[in-house]
Amino acid sequence: MKIIKKIKKMQTYSVSLRKKGMSIAVVPTMGCLHEGHLKLIDTARSHAAAVIVTIFVNPAQFGPKEDFSKYPRPLRSDFALCRKHGADAVFAPQPDEMYPADFSTWVEELALSKGLCGKSRPSHFKGVTTVVTKLFNATLPDFAVFGRKDFQQAKIIGRMVRDLNFPVKIVLEDIVREKDGLAKSSRNIYLSDNERRGAISISRSLKSAKLAILDGEKKIGTVRKNIVSEIEGGGGRIDYVEIVGSENLEPVKKISGKTLIAVASFFGKTRLIDNIEIVAGLARDRNSKSEYRNSKR
Ligand code: PAJ
Repeated sequence: MKIIKKIKKMQTYSVSLRKKGMSIAVVPTMGCLHEGHLKLIDTARSHAAAVIVTIFVNPAQFGPKEDFSKYPRPLRSDFALCRKHGADAVFAPQPDEMYPADFSTWVEELALSKGLCGKSRPSHFKGVTTVVTKLFNATLPDFAVFGRKDFQQAKIIGRMVRDLNFPVKIVLEDIVREKDGLAKSSRNIYLSDNERRGAISISRSLKSAKLAILDGEKKIGTVRKNIVSEIEGGGGRIDYVEIVGSENLEPVKKISGKTLIAVASFFGKTRLIDNIEIVAGLARDRNSKSEYRNSKR
């Protein structure tokens, strides 16, 4: 497995793969890899002849008071996991390689980025779309794999790819969870034992909300109130609980069609996000409800 730190070298390597007729799938990450990331790498393997994982803690997507400097960077063990999961290369540049001192060009999506995490993290998605553009230009992929854990991010990147005509197919993977339901996240290691126990309330409240909706609950206010009280009962501080259309991410007045319930909440200083998708009002719900009840989620 190659470890590449310079953009030029990355491009040269990707061009050489392409010349051999190999397709490329990229998995962009900020490292501190867990099973969620590893599932994306496995999915990438199933789509393309070559897999490139990028590991870059992107300063441009962190706000001034956020955890950029303390974000975990266990590079050596990350490399080992990438190797174990069959990556052909890891692209792990330094910040000054990605952002020279006079860097002045940004890529910004202006509709889907407004709500949800965009409200409490105003320049976050501009940092994401800019770095993902740069990572695509460095790795020249045919496919790029993202997780539904960051549902809004995945939608924004999909829109960016469409709007700016990137020749990249976006592949999405489902959320990987701990046994008790907590969505896996590099930030879970910040949680104290007590916070970790309380944080289960996030996924539990989302699962209950989904069941209530599949059982016929239509009132947004009730669904929202129950989620808020369950998370607050677990010791969390709500950033947002929103019920939006899965496609446009706009708040819905009533639950019908493809709907997303998205949550961001703080446990101590750690901000955790999670979401659940619901297809309400369709015949297939009757099946999905029983399947869902039986699933581990
Ligand atoms: P990071 O938080 O490291 O996540 C990298 C990818 O892993 C994202 O696509 C994210 O949705 C996915 N992921 C994280 N936890 C997951 C889980 N529990 N289940 C499934 N997928 C999961 O997202 C970023 O990095 C950055 O914003 C990035 C896109 C790399 C740009 O800097």
